[in-house]
Amino acid sequence: MGDLQIIVGEDEEARILSCAPPDGIKGLICKSQEAKEFAYCPYSNFRVGAALLAHDGTVFTGCNVENACYNLGVCAERNAIAKAVSEGYRNFKAIAIASDLNEQFISPCGGCRQFMREFGTHWDVYLSKPDGSYVETTVAQLLPVSFGPEDLKKKKVFTIQNGF
Ligand code: THU
Repeated sequence: MGDLQIIVGEDEEARILSCAPPDGIKGLICKSQEAKEFAYCPYSNFRVGAALLAHDGTVFTGCNVENACYNLGVCAERNAIAKAVSEGYRNFKAIAIASDLNEQFISPCGGCRQFMREFGTHWDVYLSKPDGSYVETTVAQLLPVSFGPEDLKKKKVFTIQNGF
């Protein structure tokens, strides 16, 4: 007595276990939480997961992967983006990010913001908490007045040849 028991049907149970929720934001966040489980972070003990939604609905996940040579560690978001790009995807709709922080929404590091920005400024970023709550933002909001690939093509005072 007193214990709240949540009874779910078989389908719902399978959905929770496999993290295969209905489409949409909640689904993407669920996948980022699932990716977080694979985090390799023996140095920071700070797990991060990301789920990247491509234009055609394909989702690429990533987790942080650290290294004994500390500065070689790679963030979850960058891993997800690199996985997608290396499979021919460059057009993204959204990325969801998960961590174990209970009291704040995980916020991507500056390097990851720039990495996202490479593929456009007008796509969504969902910063989540372990309970599945989230804040919706965009790459442009996270990295205002950014520098991107288009800037390299703009008019310059000098055009140097062969890098000299
Ligand atoms: N980390 C991410 O994977 N994404 C972020 O946006 C913030 C930080 C990782 C890097 C490192 O493995 C650990 O979290 C602690 O900084």
